[in-house]
Amino acid sequence: MGKITAAITGVEGYVPEKVMTNHDLEKIIDTSDEWITTRTGIKERHILGDDEATSDIGTRAVKKLLEKKNIDPKEIDLVICGTVTPDYPFPSTANVISDKVGMTNAWSFDVNAACSGFIYSLATGAQFIETGKYKKVIVIGADKMTSILDYEDRATCVIFGDGGGAVLLEPNEEGLGVVDSVLKSDGQGRKYLLQPGGGSLNPPTHETVDKRMHYVHQEGKAVFKFAVTNMADVSAEIMNRNNLTSEDVDWLVPHQANLRIIDATANRMGLPSEKVMVNIQKYGNTTAGTLPLCLWDWESQLKKGDNIVLSAFGGGFTWGAIYLKWAYNS
Ligand code: UT7
Repeated sequence: MGKITAAITGVEGYVPEKVMTNHDLEKIIDTSDEWITTRTGIKERHILGDDEATSDIGTRAVKKLLEKKNIDPKEIDLVICGTVTPDYPFPSTANVISDKVGMTNAWSFDVNAACSGFIYSLATGAQFIETGKYKKVIVIGADKMTSILDYEDRATCVIFGDGGGAVLLEPNEEGLGVVDSVLKSDGQGRKYLLQPGGGSLNPPTHETVDKRMHYVHQEGKAVFKFAVTNMADVSAEIMNRNNLTSEDVDWLVPHQANLRIIDATANRMGLPSEKVMVNIQKYGNTTAGTLPLCLWDWESQLKKGDNIVLSAFGGGFTWGAIYLKWAYNS
């Protein structure tokens, strides 16, 4: 028997119907379409309803995925959800999604790695396939960022949106699927990008709410500097480790935080723009949702054997890259 690798055998995504454009934001805060477009590349983002949560994003994506693959939810062994906007502090959102979808034979847990949530979750899920212990693992990246956005802070509220997606991992013996991963973290970065309130350090009180501590706080310029260097470095590192030239790489799937960070990463890898997935203009930064949303949007163009590099940087700091070979033609 050949070595077992973990192949993505299907992908689905979900974004809410409601769209908030840059012009809509101009009406509620002091910003402009011109500023947002030139600084980030974002034109619009999708917004989930007040009565819905991150599990609803994940549930819709997973239901579509299982229907498309004609798989009974009871066949799923494990569900991993990357998110920083869980429905509750506990139980995990993966637990809730498993219940809503009927994946009653699966065990499940969340991964908290901010914008690297999908990369971390995918690398984790792949290990469970590679050991041979599990045959069907669902990996989700989803966030309802609007639940932690301060619409009085123009530096953060314009960049995020709601959405996410899910992939199915199955064993492969042709060498397709996840080949390598480079994962990193540095807790020193927490001072630049965090949600200060609501955890055990600053449990919810009237005071923490009055101080707006339950919203995302970001020092954009500082985060930008770390992101632009580290996302490019880690992407170059995974190419070097696997002897990949820029000709060998068919697609870069970059975290969608800022078009300038994506361009810097692609330049460092020597990739032309045709090989770079960019959908930031229509979704904004959906945190753990960005990478599965890219795979979903590009699925029809991906071919069996394509060399794909996924790359992300986010709060923590957390960052990393995954090199995988696409396993199917759709
Ligand atoms: O996904 C997880 C990781 N996160 C990231 O990778 C994000 C990294 N950071 C960024 O993408 C960028 O830093 C931002 C898009 C967040 C901000 O862009 P920037 O070019 O770094 O702008 P800045 O924060 O340095 O602000 C420049 C100016 C400031 O005005 P002054 O002080 O120069 O007068 C801001 O007050 O732009 C102002 N500004 C805005 N103006 C209009 C900040 N936000 C806005 C806004 N509309 N929404």
